[in-house]
This record gives sequence, structure tokens and C-alpha cells, in this order.
Amino acid sequence: MNVSDSELMLGTLAAHGYVSVDHPDGADVIIVNTCAIRDHAEQRVIGRLGELRRNMKPGAVVGVTGCMAQRLGPQLLDKAKHVSLVIGPDGYRALPALIEGARRGERGIHTTFDLEEQYEDFQPRRFDRVKAWIPVQRGCDYKCTYCIVPTTRGPERSRKLADVVRETRDVVAGGMSEVVLLGQTVNSYHDGEHDFADLLRAIGGVDGLRRLRFTSPHPNDFTERVVDAMASVDAVCEHVHLPMQSGSSRILKRMLRRYTREGYLDCVARLRAAIPALSLTTDVIVGFPGETDEDFDETLSVVREVEFADAFTFKFSPRDGTPATRMPPELTVSDEIASERLARLVETVRGMSRARNLGLLGTRTEVLVEREAKRGDAMLMTRTRDFKTVLVPGTEAMLGEYLTVELTGTTGSTFTGQIVRERQPLPMAG
Ligand code: 5AD
Ligand code: SF4
Repeated sequence: MNVSDSELMLGTLAAHGYVSVDHPDGADVIIVNTCAIRDHAEQRVIGRLGELRRNMKPGAVVGVTGCMAQRLGPQLLDKAKHVSLVIGPDGYRALPALIEGARRGERGIHTTFDLEEQYEDFQPRRFDRVKAWIPVQRGCDYKCTYCIVPTTRGPERSRKLADVVRETRDVVAGGMSEVVLLGQTVNSYHDGEHDFADLLRAIGGVDGLRRLRFTSPHPNDFTERVVDAMASVDAVCEHVHLPMQSGSSRILKRMLRRYTREGYLDCVARLRAAIPALSLTTDVIVGFPGETDEDFDETLSVVREVEFADAFTFKFSPRDGTPATRMPPELTVSDEIASERLARLVETVRGMSRARNLGLLGTRTEVLVEREAKRGDAMLMTRTRDFKTVLVPGTEAMLGEYLTVELTGTTGSTFTGQIVRERQPLPMAG
């Protein structure tokens, strides 16, 4: 969501005559787009702002945008004297005017929610050339007790289906063949007339679109209609990122996740019944207040039962103002115990994916070339429909192509592959 917001901001700045540069040194305007989900994310922003203060060109305008800006507001202006504008997720329209003000020496802040704001008239400047991030919903109406997002992004609202379809057509016309629909609980999408099932069918009907993904869904919003649409729309990929958070019903209740262990497993079973080749990944929090060894064992047992292909694992991070911070102090899980649980969880997930991935060596699969690999000469980062990463030899000219590859090696989590057959490249944007 933050990448997508940055693309919107870059878009409006380009429309106002700004040109982006690769490095903050020498820039006239520096915008730090922030996340507030865990303390670690905010500490990194504070570190980055300190670095900028030391290295930036004298007189440069520094702005902080996004969830941390929304959360801290005026405190940021007080604490960081070199920051001259602070803008929350609904205020990006004010960005050019606030930058102009800042260049005249004013300091500005915009942290009001605007439930009508969907940035429909913005032309996002996309980082990615192969797949497009398309926000379909902003904000969140769930109130999970650990989570800062409802505070920083405000209530849930959806874009009109027709607007999302138009944007999809535009990106496909520009040469992209994959879109990722974004929302905090993306499958609760409802524009007043159409639900997420309608949206999947409408987007899936766009000519030239080959891969359709979405993130992140909430288990409770996988209605029969949505699951049916996923199974029947060819472009919908065989991968769902399904945040679980905990495998213990007791902890899930304290988290106000609104499902039990059995409810989560039932959702997994329904998805797998509809889409047999489905691969699942998840998010898990360890060390939530009151989590006992037994609760954590229940988390490990669901992880084993579901056989997630991968998991993002986090230590609980108390966020000011969230209900979890008001739980009795004796429920606090020590950092030592949380770290030990995190390590065991990571080991469990890794061990299982390593075993499964070794079993896939020698098989053939379709991949889309997403970008050049970060390390290694002339290697490309490609993905399977079910979200596995495969490194294959090739050059930048192959970006956006679909290839058939044979999986030849694995590090445990990612694969290396050999091209078996090259397919027709899709037309790429210039
Ligand atoms: N502490 C730790 N992890 C959190 N997440 C959200 N809030 C917190 C928190 N306070 C995790 C959840 C969510 C992911 C995006 O971040 O697992 O799914
Ligand atoms: Fe946060 Fe829960 Fe909303 Fe996800 S569903 S953004 S975890 S409040």
C-alpha cells in the first residue's frame, strides 16, 4: 500500500513539474513515506531523517508522509526541525501546495481524513514495469486490538468498480499483464453496488490481463461468491496471502480477529476445495499479551497443518493508543520468550518449505519475468503463478515475458531454473 501511495505522490509531483532523482543527495525536495505498523518501522524512519539532516543539500525541503505522519502529526514538526511538512494518507493532494509553502519557509501539516479521497484524477508514476499495484480500498473497519492502521488510515472505503476497471485497462494497454489489487481487507471491497466477487470478474475480463492477485484479504470476507469468482476467473493466481496472526482461539479473541482457529482452518479448506493448486502464505504475531506456551504450540500446529509456503513473522509491538496496550501488564510476554518463539516459528516454516521445494526440483512451470535479480550477473527474478521466486539466466530485454522453466535448484526458499521454452513477449511500454 505504501509503494502504491508513493506512486500516487510521484504522479502528482510529476504533474506539477517535479522530476524525480535516484538519490536524496542534491535533491530539492525529499519525501519520506512512512509506515507505523511496528516500532521498528518508525525507528528506521527516525534513523533516515537523521541521516538526511546530515547529508541533504542546504535549503532542501523535507517532508514526512504516510502512517507515521498521521500518527505523530505536529510532534514530528516539534522533534525534527528540518522537517517542514507532514502529510497523512488522505492528504497527498495537498503535497504540491505544501511543498511550495515550505520553499518559502512555511511549515505545513495535513492529517485530516477525507472519506471521499480516492485520488481518481492522479496518474501514478509506477516503479514496476511488469505488474501494477492498484488500490481498490482505503482504510480499515476491523479493529484488531494490536493494530494502528484503523487510526492512521481511517475508515474503510472502496473505489468505484468502473474506476478500477479503467485503471486496469490503462495499465494493460501500457504493456503490463499482471495487477495486484490492494486493500487493508481487500475482499471486503464494496463500492455500494458491487462486491469483491464482481470486481474479480470485471477485472478478470480485461483483455490482455494474465495474472490477477490481491492483498491482503481477511478470512471472514471470503464469501461463497468471492471463492466462486476466484475459482472461475482464469487470471486469478493460485496464491492467497491469508493473515492468520495466531493459531490459538483464545489469543485470536483477545486480538479481536473475529474468527477462531477452526474458523481459519475452515476458510483454508474452502479455498483449497475451490482451487486445488492453491498456495498459501500468512502473517503471524508472536508474544501477544497473554500468549502462553500452549497458545504458541497451537500456532505451530496450524502452521504444520496448513503447510504455508511462507510466512511473515513478527514479534508483537505495542502501538500507542491501541487496545492491546491497555491489557493488564502481567500479561506482557518478555522479549526473551517472544524472540525464542519467533525463532522456533521461523525454523518450522523454513523447514517445511525447504522439504516441499526440494520435492519440486525437476518439475516445469510457467513464470513471468518481473525484474533483474539483485545479485548475480545476467539473472532475472521471475515468479510462478503460485508466487514462488525462480531465478533464471537472461537479460533486461526479457522483462514482462512468460517463460516455461524447469526448476533445477533451491536454496530452500527460492529456486533457480532453466528456460525450457520462450514464449511470445507481450508488448511493453516504451
Ligand atoms: N505488532 C506486530 N505485528 C503487527 N502487525 C500489525 N500490527 C502489529 C503489531 N502491533 C502485523 C500483522 C499484520 C502485518 C501487516 O503486520 O501480522 O498482518
Ligand atoms: Fe489492522 Fe486488523 Fe485492519 Fe488488518 S484487519 S489493517 S490487522 S485492524
